Amino acid sequence: MTTLQNRIAVVTGATSGIGAATAGALAAEGAKVAAFGRREDRLKELDALPVGVDVRDAVAVRDAADRVRAELGRPDLVVANAGVMLGAPFEEADPAEWDAMIGTNVTGLLHTARVFVDDLLAAAAEGRPADLVLVGSVGGHQVFPNYAVYCATKAAVAHLTRNLRAELGPRGVRVKNVEPGITSTELGDGMRDLSIKEQLGQWRNGLETLRAEDIAAGIAWAAGMPARMNVAEMIIVPTAQG
Ligand SMILES: NC(=O)c1ccc[n+]([C@@H]2O[C@H](COP(=O)([O-])OP(=O)(O)OC[C@H]3O[C@@H](n4cnc5c(N)ncnc54)[C@H](OP(=O)(O)O)[C@@H]3O)[C@@H](O)[C@H]2O)c1
Repeated sequence: MTTLQNRIAVVTGATSGIGAATAGALAAEGAKVAAFGRREDRLKELDALPVGVDVRDAVAVRDAADRVRAELGRPDLVVANAGVMLGAPFEEADPAEWDAMIGTNVTGLLHTARVFVDDLLAAAAEGRPADLVLVGSVGGHQVFPNYAVYCATKAAVAHLTRNLRAELGPRGVRVKNVEPGITSTELGDGMRDLSIKEQLGQWRNGLETLRAEDIAAGIAWAAGMPARMNVAEMIIVPTAQG
């Protein structure tokens, strides 16, 4: 018996990194999984229903949710993980990059939570575990020069989690904030500023980073706990990051 048998999961940002690993980990524990992301061809490699969608587009997210319900059933485990990180010195910042980060990391996460909240409440009302997992970052409570806007989006995720936990927890939905430290993924590959990108590479080369599978294991473990128990805030960092 696997721990997530009979669960129906949605993972956003599943085309790479933490999202892809989480989709795999949840499926391995027995969940039926819908994998969201824009590069739909990559989703077909997963043991999941591939759903090509841009989480910034509220209508597209609503349509994607309808497809999940029609093909898998009502989700009871939603991992809002899609994210973008574009560091730059503030005096060289491009507002289009702020829009990309705020639009994905905050507004896209909200669209995801909003379209599935009724499904989660329904599962909880039946006494079943219901999880809304919001992927933040240690950047939500630590400071990183050149990443002010990215860190601000993750601070928003942290406080949003606390507020949604207060609102939905009494009705049985477990709202969680998972905050990874340095994890080797494609995050930051799209950075325009080459010196900041190089610095990120140095951080990653300077210690034994986490693997996406490490974060995925934490999420799958927390989701498998009894319905009475919410692992509400989970900071997962490389040991050497301190
Ligand atoms: N890696 C780290 O060190 C680290 C540390 C702390 C927190 N995090 C957080 O972990 C989450 C996952 O990041 P990762 O490290 O796994 O990076 P990643 O490999 O770059 O994955 C990011 C995922 O987000 C998706 N995404 C981006 N914009 C999207 C949009 N508009 N609509 C739908 N999907 C979108 C990407 O898919 P498409 O481009 O195909 O749409 C991709 O699947 C992010 O929220 C990130 O902030 C990562």
